[in-house]
Amino acid sequence: MLCRVIRGCLLWSRGYRQARHAALTALMTGFVLLLAGCASNPQTTLVPRAEVSQKIQDLFVATIWWGLAVVIPVELALFYAALRFRHRADQDRGAPVGRHGSTRLEIAWTIVPVLILAVIAVPTVQVIFATAQVASPRAVQVRVIAHQWWWEFRYPQLHIVTANELHLPVGQTANFSLTSADVIHSFWIPAFDGKRDVFPNHDNALWFTPGVVGTFPGQCAEFCGPSHAYMAMTTIVQSRADFDAWVREQQRSARAMVSGQAASSGAGAEARAGATVFAQGTCVGCHTIAGTSAVGQVGPNLTHVGSRVNIGWQLLTNTPANMARWIANPSSFKPGALMPAQRLSNSNMKAVVAYLESLK
Ligand code: CUA
Repeated sequence: MLCRVIRGCLLWSRGYRQARHAALTALMTGFVLLLAGCASNPQTTLVPRAEVSQKIQDLFVATIWWGLAVVIPVELALFYAALRFRHRADQDRGAPVGRHGSTRLEIAWTIVPVLILAVIAVPTVQVIFATAQVASPRAVQVRVIAHQWWWEFRYPQLHIVTANELHLPVGQTANFSLTSADVIHSFWIPAFDGKRDVFPNHDNALWFTPGVVGTFPGQCAEFCGPSHAYMAMTTIVQSRADFDAWVREQQRSARAMVSGQAASSGAGAEARAGATVFAQGTCVGCHTIAGTSAVGQVGPNLTHVGSRVNIGWQLLTNTPANMARWIANPSSFKPGALMPAQRLSNSNMKAVVAYLESLK
């Protein structure tokens, strides 16, 4: 009977060990896959795209190496001591003897970390001062206003207002002044390392010079309510010529575009019908479309909404079908969104979508 119980216990412990081994293997595999996923992450901070982020990256890499120079010998010594002096059943040494009051050792392990931190502080302070400099006077000025849960970008020199989509010319410094219309947010475009808290009734500053042409995602990095995770933006860094062309398009007024279309096509007639539905509805209370009666300041400026890559948030491509889905129920994409669901007849919805999509 006793033998059977012991055998059962042994089998159980072997099964437990195997299960633990399998769980550990699965955990490690998952961890490696997770780390591998970081390599293709567009929101990585490890591939800097501006001179400021390169400086931060260099400092980060240097401190990692210095840290390893400390961690590796300390951990090796720890493992050596744990193995060499571990308890053995066959040699009972009794309780270990405690040692107190080695002034030399205590001075050593106080001074060495102080010296290490002092050495790390020099380049750290240099980088902090470099990032806190005043931006070049030739910089593109961008006023950033954070809202629950979207980003407003105003270009005061260029008289352009846009939402969730930031256009910048490559090689020219962009200087941001940031504030919030409601709660605290954080402005973060990982490729440019520019993370700054954004406060209501307070201006924060940030600048960087984008070094390459491309599209880079950005994200609010401070929890700000139920749709915080959807408070994303797209940064489009363009060649000088492409940026200038974008500026010229954005500076055109919306009314000129709709009437221009109406003259040339049947689609223009539908867009004009949509303009009427828009102007007579509640939309104008919250949105601005330059050159029309829509002057609301609550929601995104829609003067050139048709030209944006995404609408509502970063994962919703700007297509007529998505525009209609968004208008019909914004909260299904962004829970808690201020914009109420719009109950429009099919023909009115089609017309409004045609109008908004025509606003290039
Ligand atoms: Cu805004 Cu999180």
